[in-house]
Amino acid sequence: MMNLEEIRSRFPILSREVNGKPLVYLDNAASSQVPREVVEAVDYGYCHAKANVHRGVHTLSQEATELQEKSRRRVQEFIGASSPEEVIFTRGTTESINLVASSFGTLFPREGEIILTVMEHHSNIVPWQLLQSRRPDLKIRVVDIDDEGCLILDQYESLFNEHTCMVSFCHVSNVLGTVNPVRDMIRIAHSHGVPVLVDGAQASPHIRVDVRDLDCDFYVFSSHKMYGPTGIGILYGKREHLLRMPPYQGGGEMISHVSFTGTTFADLPFKFEAGTPDYVGIGAFPRALDFMEEVGIGNIAAHEEELLRHAEKRMLEIPGLRIFGNSPHKSGVISFVVDGIHPYDLGMLIDHLGVAVRTGHHCAQPLMERLGVSGTVRASFAVYNTFDEVDSLVAAIKRVIPILKG
Ligand SMILES: Cc1ncc(COP(=O)(O)O)c(C=O)c1O
Repeated sequence: MMNLEEIRSRFPILSREVNGKPLVYLDNAASSQVPREVVEAVDYGYCHAKANVHRGVHTLSQEATELQEKSRRRVQEFIGASSPEEVIFTRGTTESINLVASSFGTLFPREGEIILTVMEHHSNIVPWQLLQSRRPDLKIRVVDIDDEGCLILDQYESLFNEHTCMVSFCHVSNVLGTVNPVRDMIRIAHSHGVPVLVDGAQASPHIRVDVRDLDCDFYVFSSHKMYGPTGIGILYGKREHLLRMPPYQGGGEMISHVSFTGTTFADLPFKFEAGTPDYVGIGAFPRALDFMEEVGIGNIAAHEEELLRHAEKRMLEIPGLRIFGNSPHKSGVISFVVDGIHPYDLGMLIDHLGVAVRTGHHCAQPLMERLGVSGTVRASFAVYNTFDEVDSLVAAIKRVIPILKG
């Protein structure tokens, strides 16, 4: 049984006020808040183990290195990877996808085809387009959604042909909340011999991910959306792929030997970690994973689902309010518009009442176009949100509608 009050008390920011009102933080899909133990772990890193990793023989550097490599092993265990070598630290989901597109993309056949979906975040569209700008014969194919916001699986299957060389899709949509049938989608891709990248940015905070069980080729996610420090991302990749991939960036730490006649590269995972990483944040990330496991990922998901159902029910009381995304498998994200009101205006006015939501295209402009809107308002839940907060959101919307329509 979850003790919500105890959980909330661990998040210092939740007790602050915004515009003279208690903060109601419902922008968790963009970035979640951090519990005190994560802040303390960052503090510990800066106060006790602040020295560059892998470079020094001195004690501080060794301690910093040990914290980073412990974190790698913790992430490996958390996602069920076969070895720490398969866990690459990046700056975020965005950098992880750019890494795969730039590096793995060099191995694609000249006339290869990449399958994406219409619900992708720009982070899972633009890196492939950048690759395409260097390899103009590559094609991008896009899977559509149905009226409920679910991927059309028959269409997905029909897009495969002898040119298909890559599939990349989100585990959970950041706008619709749709939880995609990733296991089936991976199985279908593999039956055509095609590797799969899963963008887990919106899944990893809510769903227990086991990369070996899923059998995905790449899985990417960000610490800052899962109660962890900012500026850290994970790229999981199957060793067989990572070994074949050329380095993404060049610099310190990723080399074995450098001379002006040629350079040899470091072994995995360091081949993909050029330059000084955010080793303090990386060292603190395991505290966020501990937090999630201590509360229980199943409990987190169940609580968020109850908040979602309550929010949907209450919001549908509001005349002219439309919700996008009605998948039977949906995570705690609720995107909506109110007829005749610009999402930005609504978001700005409810912020005056202390309610933080996101408005706009949510870095998913192709999806907005598909839905026929320029943007939406999005409320998204985390483990520390309460039913009262959902009621505050609904009350705030009801209060500002007459002002905006008046
Ligand atoms: C589905 C999805 N993919 C990728 C990203 C990008 O994550 P980051 O900004 O941490 O790189 C986000 C962030 O909102 C997301 O929701």
